[in-house]
Amino acid sequence: MTRNAVYPGSFDPVTRGHEDLIHRSLRFVDKVIVAVAADSSKQALFSREERVTLLESVLEGSPGVVVRSFDGLLADFARANDASVIIRGLRAVSDFDYESQMALMNRQLFPELETVFLVPAVHLTYLSSSLVREVAGLGGDVGDLVHPVVERALAQKFSR
Ligand code: PNS
Repeated sequence: MTRNAVYPGSFDPVTRGHEDLIHRSLRFVDKVIVAVAADSSKQALFSREERVTLLESVLEGSPGVVVRSFDGLLADFARANDASVIIRGLRAVSDFDYESQMALMNRQLFPELETVFLVPAVHLTYLSSSLVREVAGLGGDVGDLVHPVVERALAQKFSR
């Protein structure tokens, strides 16, 4: 039986932290479906199409990884894609409240779906897409934090 995981998020933009978790997930699932959520209330820097394209470029040549976008409930997307696992990252205790609420709500909606929390490599624990956007927007170097494709896209967004 093939074990599919969904790794959902905003990915605005994908960081080295996201990449790290995707590759860690492939140690215990056969396929990771990276699922880009519809724009929520958040003000996104990249459109959903841009975020999907960046993910596809960054993950090109990674066997067992596909990139999709989804609208509506994550639990419905997981069911439709035969996924039994949701992957979420936990960087700090402060992430836990929101993440545990989401995990329990997703279990309510789809009891066979398990949320698995992963911690990234220690040098990536401070990393978030919002900090990457802020630093890049203020002209800081994000070369160690994102794939070169993303670094170029950020530079273009902020037209330097
Ligand atoms: O990267 P993010 O912004 O923390 O990801 C949050 C995301 C997209 C995983 C979450 O908002 C989500 O699952 N949205 C889809 C709608 C949904 O299912 N909402 C109920 C969650 S319990």
